Amino acid sequence: MMKAVYPGTFDPITKGHIDLVERATRIFDHVVVAVVTDSSKRPLFSVEERIVMATESLGDLDGVEVVSFEGLLVEFARLVGAGVILRGLRAVSDFEYEFQLAGMNRHLASDIETMFLTPAEQFSYISSSLVREIASLGGDVTPFVRKNVQMALEQKLDRGVQ
Ligand code: COA
Repeated sequence: MMKAVYPGTFDPITKGHIDLVERATRIFDHVVVAVVTDSSKRPLFSVEERIVMATESLGDLDGVEVVSFEGLLVEFARLVGAGVILRGLRAVSDFEYEFQLAGMNRHLASDIETMFLTPAEQFSYISSSLVREIASLGGDVTPFVRKNVQMALEQKLDRGVQ
């Protein structure tokens, strides 16, 4: 059984992430969307909120589960029995960081491969931080996130938590 881990902060999950998971389900039997708990990015949403948003956004896809993880990604991959770490490459600018991450993960666990997928063209410039910024300035985020995430952003930003 081919199992992949797709790790990230997902603060919040976007249509770009969803596009990537959809592609991955055509390749892997099981995709574990792994939401990092201890991120240096100081997320807007708690890990519980990010998991709920991701679970709702990916609910219609078979063979996908959303879980949180902390500590080393390669150890988490081993724990869930995944031989592949999946990452998205949106543009050349992603490459350097992703190359470094993949190299370091290979050094830590040579039996786990990193594989890259590219999202559909219309999602190649989305990022979670841009979505948060647009939402906080009252812009329309509906092209970039599902309805549940749009509502969660509205609620969070209405309460003045940014
Ligand atoms: N669609 C939309 N956005 C995408 C995307 C896609 N297909 N692919 C990437 N992005 C965006 C994300 O939204 C995020 O945007 P942001 O910076 O504005 O929030 C950015 O690209 C990349 O972030 P993300 O995919 O969340 O990854 P990350 O860099 O935050 O997380 C981990 C990296 C979690 C994989 C890494 O920190 C990790 O492995 N942590 C565990 C600890 C560990 O093992 N460390 C050693 C690593 S060698």
